[in-house]
Amino acid sequence: MTPDIVEDAPHPDHILDVLSVTKYYPVEGGARIKAVDDVTFNIAPGETLGVVGESGSGKTTLSRIVARLIDQDDGRIIFDGTDISYLSGPAFSQMPKRRMLQMVFQDPLASLNPRFRAAQAIANPVLRLGTPEERRNVAALVEEAAAHAGLPARFLNSFPYQLSGGQRARVDIARAIVLKPKLIILDEPTSALDASLQAHVVQTLLKLREELGVALMFVSHDLNLVRLISDRLLVMHLGKIVEQGSAQAVFNDPQHDYTKKLISAIPKLGRRRGDSGMSRQFTAAPVDD
Ligand SMILES: Nc1ncnc2c1ncn2[C@@H]1O[C@H](COP(=O)(O)OP(=O)(O)O)[C@@H](O)[C@H]1O
Ligand SMILES: [Mg+2]
Repeated sequence: MTPDIVEDAPHPDHILDVLSVTKYYPVEGGARIKAVDDVTFNIAPGETLGVVGESGSGKTTLSRIVARLIDQDDGRIIFDGTDISYLSGPAFSQMPKRRMLQMVFQDPLASLNPRFRAAQAIANPVLRLGTPEERRNVAALVEEAAAHAGLPARFLNSFPYQLSGGQRARVDIARAIVLKPKLIILDEPTSALDASLQAHVVQTLLKLREELGVALMFVSHDLNLVRLISDRLLVMHLGKIVEQGSAQAVFNDPQHDYTKKLISAIPKLGRRRGDSGMSRQFTAAPVDD
């Protein structure tokens, strides 16, 4: 399928189409850099797309453009069949579809309001974007989302500073899933966690995807982590997509030198040819991390 066709009629099988998106930032001396450079990709419903690349490759900029937190300079974003390219964040917030796209940020301590208990943080999207019926049932929805995210109910009364990093990540995930969105963008959601907690959060995400059928755009500099969760991988370098394909193909048979470099930077222990990763490596997620 060509992007031209998508422009006229968004692909019915895609939850997201990103078409030739470019973003510049001004730099000193009046020059500008292309943080995102002519990027085109799509995500199917229920699919997990891993976006990987070194720090500075444009991953966060791209994520924030898709979530309408910042505007692109060029290109289009079609979410669930609706062109949201020209909607700023506040205009997007007014749309009924807004609830179908949620974002999980890199640092839950920064993204969670310190004065909100976990239950209030998770309830917030329901109170802002939910239907009257959902607002009436907010307590039950919060408990359900917390359970899905692996956060025991006894932590719902805690403030962020009273929670561990893993528990905060789960609050952030519960908040993102409480309205049962169709797409969640996760920008380095585990980078503040140590390796074993990262594995548990990834395990939780794999389970969620199964239970809720939600599509994920999982952004990380860590190729080894991303491949565990992704159906497809997209490799970014200096704002451009240099390679994309199935997670297995990209990892086992990388075509681009930059991808090869990323793979060779992974410690040998975690690298077994023919192993597409997957949750088998992990034991059940503990609930008290
Ligand atoms: N607000 C900003 N102003 C100017 N330059 C920025 C800004 N945000 C990011 N950049 C630059 O854009 C490029 C991409 O950054 P970013 O999207 O944060 O990449 P990543 O998330 O892959 O680390 C980098 O060169 C970064 O320095
Ligand atoms: Mg980033």
